Amino acid sequence: MPRRRRTRYVTGELEELFTTRRPDSEPSVLDAGAGHGAEALWLAAHGWNVTAVDFSPAALDFGQRNAAQAGADVAERITWVEGDLGVWAPEPRAHDVVLCLYVHCAGDMAEMITRLASGVAPGGRSSWSATRASIRPRANQPVPQGSTR
Ligand SMILES: C[S@@+](CC[C@H](N)C(=O)[O-])C[C@H]1O[C@@H](n2cnc3c(N)ncnc32)[C@H](O)[C@@H]1O
Repeated sequence: MPRRRRTRYVTGELEELFTTRRPDSEPSVLDAGAGHGAEALWLAAHGWNVTAVDFSPAALDFGQRNAAQAGADVAERITWVEGDLGVWAPEPRAHDVVLCLYVHCAGDMAEMITRLASGVAPGGRSSWSATRASIRPRANQPVPQGSTR
């Protein structure tokens, strides 16, 4: 059986979500738990300014390298932030869309959602797909509280 290439990172539902734009401004999305940046790259290639947050330096490095390979117009649209979603907070009301996809959360999920959703601009939207798990930064490896890379 021929192998199917995975070329669609963003589904129809999310494509609809990304029609949400504030007029007279550059569209902005917060990708919380961005991982290696598959969605971040897709979004940047479609004209969004992306703040991609993750606590994994390896994932952020991978995403940054791929963004650089995709070209300056994509790379320049993505701000990579190393931060723990257990405590990191976005700039208030700064984003048209806040995404948090397939992130395994520890701690108080309602508090985390409220905190991250504070980054949604008036009229903006958020999309969540998260499950509870025990993923936490390893002890004795402090995670920067939102250092931009
Ligand atoms: C399954 S990946 C999903 C990546 C991306 N959102 C996607 O849909 O392809 C989950 C990501 O969440 C990140 N993550 C989990 N808990 C986190 C936390 N407390 N702070 C920051 N990132 C976290 C992991 O490092 C991982 O990159």
